[in-house]
This record gives sequence, structure tokens and C-alpha cells, in this order.
Amino acid sequence: MMESVKAIVLTLTILVVISIVTPAPPERKCRTVFTDLNKRELQQINVCTKELGYKSGREKSQKSTCTMKCVLTKESLIKPDGQLSAEQFDIYVMEHFPPSLIDRANETFNPCLALFDGKNIEQDEFCKSYDPLVKCLTRNFANLCRGLP
Ligand SMILES: *[C@@H]1O[C@H](CO)[C@@H](O)[C@H](O)[C@H]1NC(C)=O
Repeated sequence: MMESVKAIVLTLTILVVISIVTPAPPERKCRTVFTDLNKRELQQINVCTKELGYKSGREKSQKSTCTMKCVLTKESLIKPDGQLSAEQFDIYVMEHFPPSLIDRANETFNPCLALFDGKNIEQDEFCKSYDPLVKCLTRNFANLCRGLP
């Protein structure tokens, strides 16, 4: 009995250590990272669009910011209470970008975080308070690899 508890604790410890020392993603070209992230985002937009159950194309386009809010929530960049998570943002950058692109990614996206003031997020059918943030992220994402090979 004691032995199996020890084995379980040991296994859990090893798993935790492995997850902590997991190396940064391998070096990749910016274009490759961009393409992958784009694909991931499109998939999540699809999932969120279904989840939000829009009744019409009009509603879907009127609430496009809400769709993006849903995507950012799925990425844990927005917390369940609707606030941004700067810590998760750092983690996201480190998990999704190779070492050579971390600074660039951070410079690309970090300024957008300041555009969100975290106010009036409850009573907002069209998620307007997320508009500046989402627009900035989208625009800057498009420029992520500008000038790079
Ligand atoms: C991104 O930049 C901010 C502000 O300059 C800094 O606090 C943060 O640690 C940086 N994050 C990463 C992942 O480099």
C-alpha cells in the first residue's frame, strides 16, 4: 500500500518536473509560426462561432469582437471574469514563439494590452470594450513577420 502511494507521488513529481523543464519550442521561421498560429486561430473562430450560436450572418458580423473575445478566453489570455491576464500573455508568447521571435512577438502584441481598460465588460452585448484590444492584436499580428525572411 505504502509502496504504491510512493510510486504515485514519484510519478506525479516526475510529471511536474518534466512540464516545468519542457524546452522552448524549436527554432522556426516567422512565416511558419505565423501560418500555424493563423490556422489555430481560424479553428478557434469556428469553434467559438458555433458555441455562440449566432442566429444570422448579421449578428455574427456585429458580434465579431465577441467571437474574438471567446478565442482569447480559450487561449486563457482573457480570464473567466473577462479581465486580461498579463501573466498568461507572457506564457502564451513563450509557448508559441521560438526563442528568436519572443522579443518581437512581445513587442508586437504587448502594446495592445494597454488598450483594454477592463471597464464595462458585463453589460455589453457587442463586447465593445474589447474592440480596441482585438483590433490592435489583429492588425499587429498581420505585421508580425514584416521585414523577416
Ligand atoms: C514583454 O514585455 C513586457 C513589457 O516590456 C515585459 O514585462 C514582459 O516580461 C515581456 N514578456 C516576455 C515574454 O518577454
